[in-house]
Amino acid sequence: MVNQEPCTYIIFGATGNLSSTKLLPALYHLEVANRLPTGTMILAVGRRTWNRDKWIAEVEKMLVNKARNGLNAEIFAQFKQRLYYFEGNLTQESMYAEMREFINKDSVFPQNIAFYMSIRPAEFGNVVQHLSQNQLLDEEHGWKRVVVEKPFGSDLESAYALHQRFSKYLKEEQIYRIDHYLGKGTVQNVLVFRFANLMLEPLWNRNYIDHVQITHSEMLGVEQRADYYDNAGAMRDMIQSHLLQLLTLVAMEPPISMEAESLRDEKVKVLKSIRPITPNTVHAQTCRAQYMAGMINKQMVRGYLQEDKIPQNSVTETYAAVKLFIDNWRWAGVPFYLRTGKRLKESQSMISICFKSPPQQFFRPNQIKKMDPNWVLLGIQPTESIRAEVTIKEPGLEMNTRQITLDAGFRKEDDVAKDAYEELLLDVIKGDRSLFLRYDEVEYAWKIVDPILRVWATERDYIPTYQAGSWGPKESRRLFEKETQSWRHSLDPE
Ligand code: BG6
Repeated sequence: MVNQEPCTYIIFGATGNLSSTKLLPALYHLEVANRLPTGTMILAVGRRTWNRDKWIAEVEKMLVNKARNGLNAEIFAQFKQRLYYFEGNLTQESMYAEMREFINKDSVFPQNIAFYMSIRPAEFGNVVQHLSQNQLLDEEHGWKRVVVEKPFGSDLESAYALHQRFSKYLKEEQIYRIDHYLGKGTVQNVLVFRFANLMLEPLWNRNYIDHVQITHSEMLGVEQRADYYDNAGAMRDMIQSHLLQLLTLVAMEPPISMEAESLRDEKVKVLKSIRPITPNTVHAQTCRAQYMAGMINKQMVRGYLQEDKIPQNSVTETYAAVKLFIDNWRWAGVPFYLRTGKRLKESQSMISICFKSPPQQFFRPNQIKKMDPNWVLLGIQPTESIRAEVTIKEPGLEMNTRQITLDAGFRKEDDVAKDAYEELLLDVIKGDRSLFLRYDEVEYAWKIVDPILRVWATERDYIPTYQAGSWGPKESRRLFEKETQSWRHSLDPE
């Protein structure tokens, strides 16, 4: 893609995990797709005493396992010309002036600069301040954009403080708050499915929908992220960000256009309409738990408290579920159940929409058994599909019915899979912020989860547990409004 202006991607924390597993592979895949503007450079900033050659060798190692269809030698030869390394410690003020000199010294680095903060959130504010004080955010000779990973704050107050600090040095248009879920093709498909097809729109409301479930489950445990995760927990890690974003896409009104601000306006309206959870309703509307040892893939795995670097008395939740109500005309009275957990039975993300039953049950086999409801299921990962479950008559002489699935897997065989980061990194270069969060989205998402976190923070003596390899704590059932509702674990009929 040559008609975009080139830029310099400066990655802080370039030797860390996110950079090696996501960012560099994504940039390499953009090279493969010929989408990096000619002249674009990638400058890694890290503390290790490496030079450019060593960095290139490291990147090659990272990519060997991560490149789709294997690392292509010819394309890598081209890609490596973009790679530079700058040894520097972000906490040292002098580093910023030295880095400025390094990038200004020769004309190899374009003056459009995207700073990617792949660093500890506690450092975001200081780094931005130093960049500004060293004129690295001046836009006189090219745009300057700052990309921040979640979490943006650890509660409403800290998010606000960080926002205030950022606002001193940056305009809102310069800030790209990433929620990598929005970069997933299947997540964007929720919008296309809803707003490019008319068929379901008349039904997409409280008159026809019984309830909605949004699930993200993982078989993985806390892995090497104990430091971060034990302070965050599942509510902050997944629900405040990714799952609430999914909810906004399912529930929002049609925006006036697909342009960034219109989209974000509608998403914020949904968040604002969510009925606040009060300290008194926290228990009725939420459930949290922590995994114990159990079997995953026929192997015994450790419990959370036995994981490396997890304090013995930790009551951090690795499972969280919440019931939310959106108090607006479209959704009044429809419960939205969100849940996420680590070390669960399967790894998947899906949105399940359960329709109400028809007003008369003509075909039920007897007085006790009810007909199965219709479901629309949006598989986000690993299966990417849209499914609808409908009732048909079973072949045969009797008037028996059965549930069948209309399945539209959306990937054709020759469609190329892509990682969310590829699209997001490219959008930063293009200046398209539609898939990034505006501050008010972050703020209202914190307003929803803050009261829950506050109550949980006072209950430090005990946390319920669930066995690794299960679907989480049985007591999460109590969130359901009706006997007929239950967790939908799979895209397949259960
Ligand atoms: C991250 C969370 O934002 O998302 C992780 O911090 C989680 O804990 C991950 O595992 C899930 O993302 P994905 O793309 O693998 O579904």
